[in-house]
Amino acid sequence: MTDLSVKWAGLTLKSPVIVGACNLTINPQKAKEMEDAGAGAIVFKSLFEEQVQLENLQTERVMTQYDERDPEMISLHPKFTHAGPEEHLMKFANVKRSVNIPVIASLNAIHKDSWIEYAKKLESVGASALELNFYYTPRNIDHNGNDIENEQIAILREVKKTVKIPVIIKISPYYSNVLNFIKKLTEAGADGVILFNRLFQPDIDIEEHRNIYPYNLSTSDDQRLSLRFTALSHGRFKTSITSATGIHDWRDSIKMLLAGANAFQIVSTVYKNGINQITKINEGIKAWMDVNEYETIEQFRGKLSQQQQKDPYAYLRAQYIDILLTSGDVFKQNMPI
Ligand SMILES: Cc1cc2nc3c(=O)[nH]c(=O)nc-3n(C[C@H](O)[C@H](O)[C@H](O)COP(=O)(O)O)c2cc1C
Repeated sequence: MTDLSVKWAGLTLKSPVIVGACNLTINPQKAKEMEDAGAGAIVFKSLFEEQVQLENLQTERVMTQYDERDPEMISLHPKFTHAGPEEHLMKFANVKRSVNIPVIASLNAIHKDSWIEYAKKLESVGASALELNFYYTPRNIDHNGNDIENEQIAILREVKKTVKIPVIIKISPYYSNVLNFIKKLTEAGADGVILFNRLFQPDIDIEEHRNIYPYNLSTSDDQRLSLRFTALSHGRFKTSITSATGIHDWRDSIKMLLAGANAFQIVSTVYKNGINQITKINEGIKAWMDVNEYETIEQFRGKLSQQQQKDPYAYLRAQYIDILLTSGDVFKQNMPI
C-alpha cells in the first residue's frame, strides 16, 4: 500500500503537498476543496506589518512609509488596506474550523513587537504552525549582512519563546551563504525552513516612464534554485526542509523529494490548473512510487541530494564550469549565428 504521509516540522502530513500562502487559502470553501483534493496542509495568506500599522493608526502616511521597503507587497495585496489584523484573525479561525488538515499562519512583520504580538494571536486562533517571512530589501548601504541576519535570528528566538506551535521560516535566496543561514536558523530553534519565497520585483514601463508591478505566476523553470539548495541542505540540518517556487506537477514534486525535501509548497500551479492539480500531483507521485517499488516517501527522499551523490560535484560550481566548457555545441545548434 503506497503511503504518501510525511513527517514535517513536528507534524504528520497525509501528503507532502502544501498549498502555500496565497489569496485562495483565505476562503473556507476553497480550503475544504484543497483538503478533499488531498493537500497535506495549507498556509493562510500572510498577515503583514502594514495591516497591523494601518489598524493602529488608520493613516495613509504609514502606507507610503513602507512603499520603499516592499513595493511588491503593495501590488501583491492591493486590497489589504481594507483588511486589518482583527479581520485577518477572524478569517483565519473560519478557515481553521472548515478543515481537519493543519492550517499554517503566515506572518510578515517589521518591528519586533509586532512579530511577538501577532505570533501569539495567530497561535490563539488555532494556527497549527507559524510561518515567518524573513525578507529584507536593503536600501541603507551601511547595514551589513551579518547585522540583518542577526536581527532575523533574534526575532526567531523571541517568537520561539512566545509560542508552542512549530515555527517555520520562509526565506529568500538572497543570503551570501544560504546554508550558513539555515544552520543559524536551525540552532535558533526553527522547526522548518522554506526554500524559497518568490519575490515580486518591480519593472519599468518605458512608454509611460513609470514603475509597474507586474503580477507573474511562476513556471517550472523557476524551481532550480530551490532544487539545488534542497539537495545541498538534505542531511545537514535537523530542521525540516520545504521546497517552494516553480513546483507545478508530479514530476517537479518527485524531483524535490529526491533532492531531500520533507514537503513542498505549490501556489502558481493551483492558480493555473485549479485545485484538482493537488489530486493529480498525489496520484502522479503514487504511480511513480508503484513503478519504482517504493511504499513510503522516506524510502527515496534525498536519494539525489548532494551528500548521496556519486558525483561529488553535483550541485556545485564545478558542474557549472563543466556545462559551459563542454556543452557549447548544444547551444550553438539552437542559435541563429
Ligand atoms: C496571488 C498570490 C498571493 C500570495 N500571497 C503570499 C502571502 O501572503 N505570503 C507569502 O509569503 N507568499 C505569498 N505568495 C507567494 C507564494 O506563497 C509562493 O511563495 C510563490 O508564489 C512561489 O510559489 P509558486 O511558484 O508555487 O507560485 C503569494 C503568491 C501569489 C501568486
